[in-house]
Amino acid sequence: MSRRLLVTGGAGFIGANFVHHWCRVYPNDRVVVLDALTYAGNLPNLKLVQEQENFRFVLGNIGDASLVNKILVEENIDTIAHFAAESHVDRSILAPGDFVQTNVVGTFTLLESFRQYWETKANPDNYLFLHISTDEVYGSLCPNDPAFSETTAYAPNSPYSASKAGSDHLVRAYYHTYKLPTIITNCSNNYGAFQFPEKLIPLMCINILMGKPLPVYGDGKNVRDWLYVNDNCRALDVIIHQGKPGENYNIGGNNEVENISLVKTLCQIMDELAPDLPVRPSEKLITFVKDRPGHDRRYAINAHKLKTELGWSPSVTITEGLRITVQWYLKNHHWWKPLLSEEYQDYYRQNYRDSRGVFQ
Ligand code: NAD
Ligand code: DAU
Repeated sequence: MSRRLLVTGGAGFIGANFVHHWCRVYPNDRVVVLDALTYAGNLPNLKLVQEQENFRFVLGNIGDASLVNKILVEENIDTIAHFAAESHVDRSILAPGDFVQTNVVGTFTLLESFRQYWETKANPDNYLFLHISTDEVYGSLCPNDPAFSETTAYAPNSPYSASKAGSDHLVRAYYHTYKLPTIITNCSNNYGAFQFPEKLIPLMCINILMGKPLPVYGDGKNVRDWLYVNDNCRALDVIIHQGKPGENYNIGGNNEVENISLVKTLCQIMDELAPDLPVRPSEKLITFVKDRPGHDRRYAINAHKLKTELGWSPSVTITEGLRITVQWYLKNHHWWKPLLSEEYQDYYRQNYRDSRGVFQ
């Protein structure tokens, strides 16, 4: 059966990688992207697929119910892959309102539109609302705690993760109350091509190339469980085809690393691959700065359910994935340079100079 997908947030990092994956593997499916092109949305991310006949881009907000209704009917959508969100924890600390608006109210509006549309259908089992969430909803782990599983209680600690938790609860409630076929995925930190410069890995790569300080929050010993974005896209593919409505699936890379060790590895790869760095060795740029308020200490994902029930496991090790990613940022100056806009510089000053005392 060919599918007709609505991908929200498809011009962002994971959404764009997912669209590339889907258009490559399922060229006969219809893929419609709905994206508001916030600071994090970037049309060039979709350049590879833009000319394909089965692809359409719609500029708009998930909170615009009449637009969403129009797309659902016009395109006869059967599957929503919902990526659109405000996604950066530091921005949620500076300005939490947008996170509640997009992540909670926006998701509610989208769910409600999809429910009303789906209720008119004769074959309701052929529909799916896939909600892309995060491991951050589970809160923070101590060093010896077991990794997050699908039954770990929610304990979000930032406005970002609280707003994602709120949206997860709404999605869950729509399944239980209306039997709307929904699935929630909770994945760990993604990395790879097309990630916006504000996130740890691209930020460090770009700052090394520019000879700027590498701001490591707190003692640098916070742990993240890194997932190569293409592996996440493969997991989402399997879940769309074989996942069970009403379920949650955790997706993780099995790659727990302390931030300071990750940053040092990036410095080593850069020193090796980039011929004319302004500062060498680039580790000299590492600067410990004031911690992120409420900074979660450790995330770790137990992806056993996805492996045993649907046969997925990650295919890229952190060593391979970081190399590929550094090479991508080295080759794609033309992609990231325009993103260091005036708006980005304002955010950078607020987050790094005003909140953390970094003056470059
Ligand atoms: P991103 O910030 O790179 O992209 C978000 C996209 O959503 C952008 O294209 C933006 O324009 C769009 N958008 C924002 N508000 C919108 C609105 N109201 N209407 C329509 N479009 C809107 O995010 P990402 O890193 O690709 O994350 C995608 C999803 O995955 C998010 O839901 C995020 O919470 C989740 N997630 C991300 C990670 C990660 O490591 N990046 C990990 C776990 C979960
Ligand atoms: O775990 C999944 C989450 O991963 C997603 O839900 C979020 O959308 C995504 O942004 C990401 O959140 P994090 O806060 O973990 O990612 P970030 O890249 O912002 O930071 C990763 C770690 O690096 C975190 O411990 C904070 C630290 N850090 C980050 C930045 C930007 C630094 O030490 N310095 C920095 O400049």
